[in-house]
Amino acid sequence: MYPIVGHEELAPKVHRLTVKAPVVAEKARPGQFVILIIDPKGERVPFTISGWNVEEGTVDFVFIEVGNTTRQLATLREGDQLATFVGPLGRPAEVDHYGHVVTILSGYGIAAMSPILKALKEKENRITTIVQAPDRERLFNEDELRALSDDLILAVGTRGEHMMESTTLALRKLLDRHPRHRIDRVVAMCSLCLMRVISEMTRPQGIKTMVHLTPVMVDGTGMCGACRLSVGGANRFACVHGPEFDGHEVDSWEVLMARRCTYADESILQQGFQCR
Ligand code: FES
Repeated sequence: MYPIVGHEELAPKVHRLTVKAPVVAEKARPGQFVILIIDPKGERVPFTISGWNVEEGTVDFVFIEVGNTTRQLATLREGDQLATFVGPLGRPAEVDHYGHVVTILSGYGIAAMSPILKALKEKENRITTIVQAPDRERLFNEDELRALSDDLILAVGTRGEHMMESTTLALRKLLDRHPRHRIDRVVAMCSLCLMRVISEMTRPQGIKTMVHLTPVMVDGTGMCGACRLSVGGANRFACVHGPEFDGHEVDSWEVLMARRCTYADESILQQGFQCR
């Protein structure tokens, strides 16, 4: 069993859980994920690792209440236990000295990108972060993002497509200044829809764009095929070949979006959440 040692509500329906899992903490790298099961009858759910502490043997992840399992997770408190907590899974994100890196975040990515931002900072990249949130109340982690980014652009205060437009507009302005104010790499951890749009925006200028894809997963070891996607004309499994992929090579955006919607139940759609 894996005890919960911390639970913080970062924003309405957005939670950070800290779990005692020393083996996972020792091996975790930026961009990797865990799969957990709350109780023996629960479903397996993947979460991107948002932080870890090797000395204390703890691992953090952030989630948004959108379905039955995340609602159940939100009720857990310090001292409760998870039946299973497997990881770290997936390949670590690529991190090197690139120069100027633009990162684009929304939802759980606002926290889950933190380890990647820290690693990019350690490699002395200049970082511009665009963060999208529906309103100020649901913008969290701002202080850390500010500390890790040289420039922080907030796309806050609009909903749905308009919210996405304010994010793409911010990126458009940066792209229009390229190559005078050069962008060497874009890294996105946000909605599928937005990652797809971002990849198309950066394609003409050939700016390497990495996207973090989290399709439905079951075993997390490349055996079940649930997370299959097509990248560069080849079958790939997000759990073992990803979750980070070159956005210009992903050719199954439609399939990814359709599959995500397949498992969105009425309760999710009624809350106005996009299944993409
Ligand atoms: Fe089963 Fe990736 S989750 S192959």
